[in-house]
Amino acid sequence: MTLTIAIDGPAAAGKGTLSRQIAEEYGFHHLDTGLTYRAAAKALLDAGLPLDDEAVAERMALEVELAGLDRSVLSAHAIGEAASKIAVMPAVRRALVQAQRAFSRKEPGTVLDGRDIGTVVCPDAAVKLYVTASPEVRAKRRFDEIVGKGAAADYAAIFDDVKKRDERDMGRVDSPLRPADDAHLLDTSEMSIEAAFQAAKSLIDAALIKKI
Ligand code: DC
Repeated sequence: MTLTIAIDGPAAAGKGTLSRQIAEEYGFHHLDTGLTYRAAAKALLDAGLPLDDEAVAERMALEVELAGLDRSVLSAHAIGEAASKIAVMPAVRRALVQAQRAFSRKEPGTVLDGRDIGTVVCPDAAVKLYVTASPEVRAKRRFDEIVGKGAAADYAAIFDDVKKRDERDMGRVDSPLRPADDAHLLDTSEMSIEAAFQAAKSLIDAALIKKI
């Protein structure tokens, strides 16, 4: 039996780092599903194709290879914005969700992180976490990350961006971002990365003991 851990939450909540640490801890395969939306968006941008044509975007989504997702290339800001736009399209979601579900069945277990894992992609996941932090904290983390890399950053613009991304992700009709009814909420606003990991591990261990 495959055990799946579903991790959802808004942009810049720290769920990426947390998901990678959890996958390593339990020896599970990890998929950052945001990268699948980003890969489809990048293919459109590279080909100079429009971001508002659902049939064209669906074609790109069907061609996304999970094995070839390169975080360092796909993390560009413009790609994230484009991804958020095509993520409202049901045909794009259908294509990517199918690939994500196939991944979730890998043995011995999987960790998938995104926006709709606990609600749509893996509703039967063994454990569901909803990782969040206040918009101010998320914007500050992103600001620090950019400055840490030696680049210039504008906090007000980043904050504005975080809010807009939330509105788009939570406001879309198909699979909006929201916690599953049976998700454990983890607010990391006041937590270090290590504290968030320990809190997540406690929740997961407690949930897994009940399943076994
Ligand atoms: O987590 P991220 O920033 O890489 O995600 C980029 C966009 O992809 C995000 O704004 C919304 C979309 N997304 C989604 O709709 N569903 C997912 N499971 C993951 C990401």
